[in-house]
Amino acid sequence: MDNNQSTTYTLLDGKKVSQEIKQEISAEVQRMVEAGLKRPHLAAVLVGHDGGSETYVASKVKACEEVGFGSSLIRFEDDITEEELLACVDRLNKDTDVDGFIVQVPLPKHINEQRVIEAISPSKDVDGFHPINVGRLSIGLPGFVSATPKGVIELLRRYNIPTKGKHCVILGRSNIVGKPMSMLMVEKAQPGDCTVTVCHSRTANLEEIARSADILIAAMGRPESVTKEMIKPGAIVIDVGTTLVPDASRKSGVRLTGDVKFDEVAPLTSFITPVPGGVGPMTIACLMMNTLEAAKAALK
Ligand code: GUN
Repeated sequence: MDNNQSTTYTLLDGKKVSQEIKQEISAEVQRMVEAGLKRPHLAAVLVGHDGGSETYVASKVKACEEVGFGSSLIRFEDDITEEELLACVDRLNKDTDVDGFIVQVPLPKHINEQRVIEAISPSKDVDGFHPINVGRLSIGLPGFVSATPKGVIELLRRYNIPTKGKHCVILGRSNIVGKPMSMLMVEKAQPGDCTVTVCHSRTANLEEIARSADILIAAMGRPESVTKEMIKPGAIVIDVGTTLVPDASRKSGVRLTGDVKFDEVAPLTSFITPVPGGVGPMTIACLMMNTLEAAKAALK
């Protein structure tokens, strides 16, 4: 089959799977509360008024309500000092009612993001950004795994997609997605056991490498940059891109756009995630999974 032929493909429905996960969590929360245990609680810290961050944090708070978690949203203007933000992190670390919390990134330029991340207690770091959790992931120890790559793994798991021995190509080397994704896909596990290649903005022959992928995970944040020439027929394509691009035909004036040119790529694939409705809702569901895990660990 060449790159102009089409086949039928299966949509990896992240919306549906995330709802199943949230129902499972909700049932677990109900059991916990009936047993007289504390209701899990997630706090989110949001600095400034970035449109994308506002939307993501609002979805996280809404998901807490859906699964029966307590939640708090702590907002600061973007002129907050690093010391004030670190003091907030310290308070949340010590607050026994809060099981896990996230500090939405990016932060304003005058704040050292890494310093803030490293101030979060690893046992409450449900984003899995702290070097302790990243290090544990890198050697296959239990810990919190960043919600987006975890969401991709859950999606592959729940669709029973075999991955052993496959060539997985990851486009993007971010700390939030590309790097942890590569560690998960190389891990001795199902999903996992892949031969992994990580490509980035300085990669030579990126198109050629992408075309050799059995599983292609696009996480560069460059809208519609993955074209049909980059796809091996029958490949599994996971689109992690979530860029808001201007769209005058929408009431909001923007449209959520993935990294994959869906219309021309989908017919070549065996499985593909849509945007929206693919990885995005899985990220939120996995943040809820991590928070439940943190709450259970705090009971011990
Ligand atoms: N910004 C983009 N994605 C994320 C995420 O998963 N967590 C946090 N805290 N900030 C983000």
